[in-house]
Formats: sequence, structure tokens, C-alpha cells
Amino acid sequence: ISLKPFNTFGLEASAQYFVEVSTVEDLKKILQNPDFKKLDKLFLGGGSNLLLTKDYEGLVVKIALKGIEKVFEDENHIHIHAGAGEIWHQFVMYCVENNYAGIENLSLIPGTVGAAPMQNIGAYGVEIKDVFQELQALNLETLEIETFNLIDCQFGYRESVFKHTLKGKYVITAVTFKLNKVPTFKIAYGDIQKTLAEMNITELSIKAISNAVIAIRKSKLPDPAEIGNSGSFFKNPEISLTQYQKLLIDFPTLPSYPINETTVKVPAGWLIEQAGWKGFKDGQIGVHARQALVLVNYGGGNGNDIKALAEKVQQSIVDKFGIKLSPEVNYI
Ligand code: EPU
Repeated sequence: ISLKPFNTFGLEASAQYFVEVSTVEDLKKILQNPDFKKLDKLFLGGGSNLLLTKDYEGLVVKIALKGIEKVFEDENHIHIHAGAGEIWHQFVMYCVENNYAGIENLSLIPGTVGAAPMQNIGAYGVEIKDVFQELQALNLETLEIETFNLIDCQFGYRESVFKHTLKGKYVITAVTFKLNKVPTFKIAYGDIQKTLAEMNITELSIKAISNAVIAIRKSKLPDPAEIGNSGSFFKNPEISLTQYQKLLIDFPTLPSYPINETTVKVPAGWLIEQAGWKGFKDGQIGVHARQALVLVNYGGGNGNDIKALAEKVQQSIVDKFGIKLSPEVNYI
């Protein structure tokens, strides 16, 4: 089966075996099946953080566990439990429509609810960890469902325990979010205020913020339905304040965000643009013209070519700035 419809880069690669599961029971059954036991497995959400470089020899399991339900409510909070296969943006829209505040800044991020905690998705000043209550995950060894709280998940910038010590050991099946009935608007991110002003919004609401975020994302980020991509290809690197101050001598406009007293984060998109890559096109692949952090497949591109392009970009950033960029996407 072709995996092209299942990865937002739109890369052509096939899976030896493919199955879509819509209940935890089915997922367990598949994993217990002796025919599948020895196979390598790839668990797929929305396929929005994936670079397929070859055909997959093994079993691809598309997680389609659905369902959204209220599990707790008090005066100020509401806990919403969502199946891992729910489409992230649809879930955000459900919360915005019902006035459950906290994830409106995360509108229009591609992918699924279950994939969101894997890399602690974030945008415009909010990360999943800010509204996270707990998640359920299937232990692939014992086939038991286990619950992970905020501390268990060890969230960091685009990081969680599921990308490190527990990599390949669990499949996330559901996530519970702690949302607010009284919103705290997060509009510090420059683009949001500018966009709200452009939209003539005078009274803030989570709907208005969601609309502003959607407008910003549409203006900068290519729609995977039109141009294949995986959002930001690299993470924004953290460097020492000392290194940053040295770089400022040659690059006085290099932006930075403080992390702590000795570390700053610098925008990879800025570095890549300065290295001359923005809008670069080589055959069917390239670097997006409006956001240099996004590598794109214009159609018919190949995962290995994108990997090679990513390596060239990384090398040029090392040469020019002495900074090593790490990919945000997972290479398969
Ligand atoms: N910039 C450039 N040139 C570019 C792109 C960016 O100079 O081509 C500069 C901008 O001018 C700005 C800074 O870089 O000063 C940051 O740019 P932007 O606000 O577009 O955000 P980003 O750091 O490039 C991060 C996330 C995005 C998220 C946005 C908004 C990462 C790796 N990416 O991008 O997340 O939507 O902030 O919060 O942290 C994703 O993870 O896939 C993703 C899209």
C-alpha cells in the first residue's frame, strides 16, 4: 500500500503491511497476532512529522482511535479526554466553539491528538504541556494501558520521554487536557497582536485569537494539501550567551529569546534565510519562500533528496554561524 496519503510531505513510499485501528482492543489484537509479532512496526498519527526515505519493510499501524468526552468539570476548569486519532485542529475547533480556553494558540497545527504530546507541540507562546492533564498509552511489551502524568512525560522544547528513554515502547491512545472556563489570553507573540489589529479586533476572545493564528499560519506556512511539507523541519537551536554575543559582532540583527541566564534560543528560520536558502528550489524540492524553516516537496520529490538538502542546509549553518541544527522531523 502507498503511504503517500499518510504523510504530509506527500512522499511516495510503500508499506509492506498496513492496518488502521479504531479501538484499543483492535490495536491489542493486531499486536498479539503471531503473523505480525516479528515485524518492525511504525505507528502513524497524521504523518505530519515524518520524512520517509524508503519503503517500509514491516507493519504500519494508523492510529484512528476517536472520541471526545468531558471527564471532569469544576468552576474554573474542564478536563477533556480525546482519542489519539482525533485530528488536532478539529479538536482545537471543538474547544474554541465550546469556550474551553487554552489551546486556541495551537490552531491549525497539522497532525493528531495522540502525536501532539510526543514532541510537545507548540506555537505562538503555548505548548501542549501548559494544558496537559494526563495521557494513556499502550505498553507494547505488556499490552497494558498505562497512565502518564505531566511529570512522567518529561516535556521539553519539542521533546518528551516518548522520544527518548521510552522511544518505541509505547503507543499513545488518548490524551486528557485541562482547559479553562475563564480564558487567559496569550498574545505576547508579536505577530498575534499585529494580526488582531489588522483584523480590527477590539474585544479579545479565544475565537479571535484562533482566527488570528489561523491567518498567520496561512500567510507563512504552506498548506500540506497543496505543497508537501512537515512544518518546521529543524528545531530552533539553543546556544550559550557567550556564543550569541560573539555572533552579534558579525550579525548584529540576529534575534534571540532568553532561555536562562546563560542560554538563548535563536530562530533557525533566520539563520537559514541569512545563509541564502529561502526560496531555494532544486527540481521537485526546496526551501519555502515565506518561511525558511520549512522544507517542501512540490510534488514527486523524493525523501532522500529532502534529506540531502537538509544536510546541505545544516552544513552551511555550521560553516557560517558555527551552529548545528537538529531536525524536528523523524527520519524513517
Ligand atoms: N525568520 C526569518 N526568516 C524566515 C523565517 C523566520 O528571519 O524565513 C525569523 C522571523 O522573522 C522571526 C523568527 O525567525 O524573527 C521566528 O519566526 P517564526 O515566528 O515564523 O517562528 P519559528 O521560530 O520559525 C516556531 C515553531 C513553529 C511555530 C512558530 C510560531 C519551531 C521549530 N517552530 O517557528 O512551529 O508555529 O514558532 O510559534 O519551534 C512546527 O513545529 O512545525 C512549527 C511550525
